Amino acid sequence: MAEPIVEFRHITKKFPGIVANDDVSFTVNKGEIFAVLGENGAGKSTLVSALFGMYEPDGGEILVRGKPERITSPRYAGTLGIGMVHQHFRLVSNYTVAENIVLGLEPVRRVCGIPFVDMRKANRDVAALSERYGLKVSPDDVIEDMSVAAMQRVEILKMLYREAEILIFDEPTAVLTPQEIDAFLQTVKTLRDSGKTIILITHKLREIKAVADRCAIMARGKLVSILDVKTASTDEMARMMVGHDISFTTEKAPAKFGPVVLDVDGLTVKSAAGYEAVKGVSFQVHAGEVFAVAGVSGNGQNELADSVAGLAEVSSGRVILNGHDITNATVREHITAGVAYIPEDRHNVGLVLDFTLRGNFPLRLYDTPKYSRKSIINYKEYNEQSARLQEQYDIRSSQGGETIVREMSGGNQQKAIIAREIDMKTPLIIFMQPTRGLDAGAVMNVRKYIIAERDRGAAVLLISLDLDEILDCADTIGVIYSGKMSKIAPAGELTAEVIGEYMMGVGKTA
Ligand SMILES: Nc1ncnc2c1ncn2[C@@H]1O[C@H](COP(=O)(O)OP(=O)(O)O)[C@@H](O)[C@H]1O
Ligand SMILES: [Mg+2]
Repeated sequence: MAEPIVEFRHITKKFPGIVANDDVSFTVNKGEIFAVLGENGAGKSTLVSALFGMYEPDGGEILVRGKPERITSPRYAGTLGIGMVHQHFRLVSNYTVAENIVLGLEPVRRVCGIPFVDMRKANRDVAALSERYGLKVSPDDVIEDMSVAAMQRVEILKMLYREAEILIFDEPTAVLTPQEIDAFLQTVKTLRDSGKTIILITHKLREIKAVADRCAIMARGKLVSILDVKTASTDEMARMMVGHDISFTTEKAPAKFGPVVLDVDGLTVKSAAGYEAVKGVSFQVHAGEVFAVAGVSGNGQNELADSVAGLAEVSSGRVILNGHDITNATVREHITAGVAYIPEDRHNVGLVLDFTLRGNFPLRLYDTPKYSRKSIINYKEYNEQSARLQEQYDIRSSQGGETIVREMSGGNQQKAIIAREIDMKTPLIIFMQPTRGLDAGAVMNVRKYIIAERDRGAAVLLISLDLDEILDCADTIGVIYSGKMSKIAPAGELTAEVIGEYMMGVGKTA
């Protein structure tokens, strides 16, 4: 029999200008994987943050194990056996795995009555926990040297060390590669099978289908429906999430290639750590072509994108744009030459988070006559552009152009970057992981923009870890493996399986 463990009753939470949760009620049962599905800004994080004691709702109540609770802090949530892995990890980067896991609850050993932290026991406990749940970590490793997936395992172990029974995951797979996602989903099932209750926030239908027992769908702060995952179709879930049908393949006309716009010749780029991350890569992108680079994370994609965009130094080879050599030109010269860039790191490269939305649009061209003359800022242009782009790209924010970008949801931040870069109408536009962390509706929109850029006649360089995205958008596919372009071919000539082989470095070299 289903035994309720968490009940949300009529939860309402308002932020200035927005109702983030509007009378949301549902029950999570002990021992189930309960997914919360919804587009960016639907109110998912706000709702579970209330359960974890980060916000107090304005109205309604939360029951834990049948008892109404005022959860006023994460510490109190911890005493109720509630743990959470946040979208952005909260680990101490210069501490070891074991130090992070036991932080605040360190085992103590007394020598002559004086208490010492017993790190040997901490390491043993962590190793035992890691073994028991199949979460591979080395207790002595320092966090800052670890991969994102490994850090996530540490966050999970940290909850388990605290004996949490109700485990909340906020978009845990947004930062993982396809292989890591599969391993994570397996972990979630193991946790459920050992008796834990899982609340899993995601907007990826495939993941819900793969592991969840039930699923709540939220849209614009409200609960839309609760579904039994086994019997619900992904189409039905997708429709409820966005309020209309969405198709999962982008419609596009055949490409009409123009002249070569980007000519990359023998490009070699060193990584920040000093090794050669890109090794003698050559390819061309024509006007009206989407050239998509497929590959497993960390095979030189970041260095490739950054060097073509002018953010990383080229050690040898050349980057030619419309016949002009822009190798190692400044960022300013790249912009003037006509390179738009949607970077992977939205927070540090893509936006100035403490500026308003309106103030983020002119960042690339603020010193051109369009925005200022003789040091006088053209506020009229700022305002008009901001209003136009918000409307055209459906950028939602609580206070329009005056919203501080930091306060916007990730999906809306990404829309703002894409709007700004596309609005420059450049001959070359680079999309680096453009849909990472976005919900299904937003993903489809971004892919439409990619195709629209191509059809406008731009040369599009798309770099993505998502093979579906590559197959959906590409006219030509280049596979990057270990810094080398191991295969380049028209998209129609390659299947996912063949691309996968080159991505793993086992394909026959062309
Ligand atoms: N601290 C905050 N201040 C102001 N608005 C917020 C804050 N946190 C969330 N919001 C707004 O509340 C809405 C719901 O956000 P959130 O719960 O993060 O959605 P989701 O997790 O489903 O993407 C969004 O419109 C968001 O901009
Ligand atoms: Mg969220």
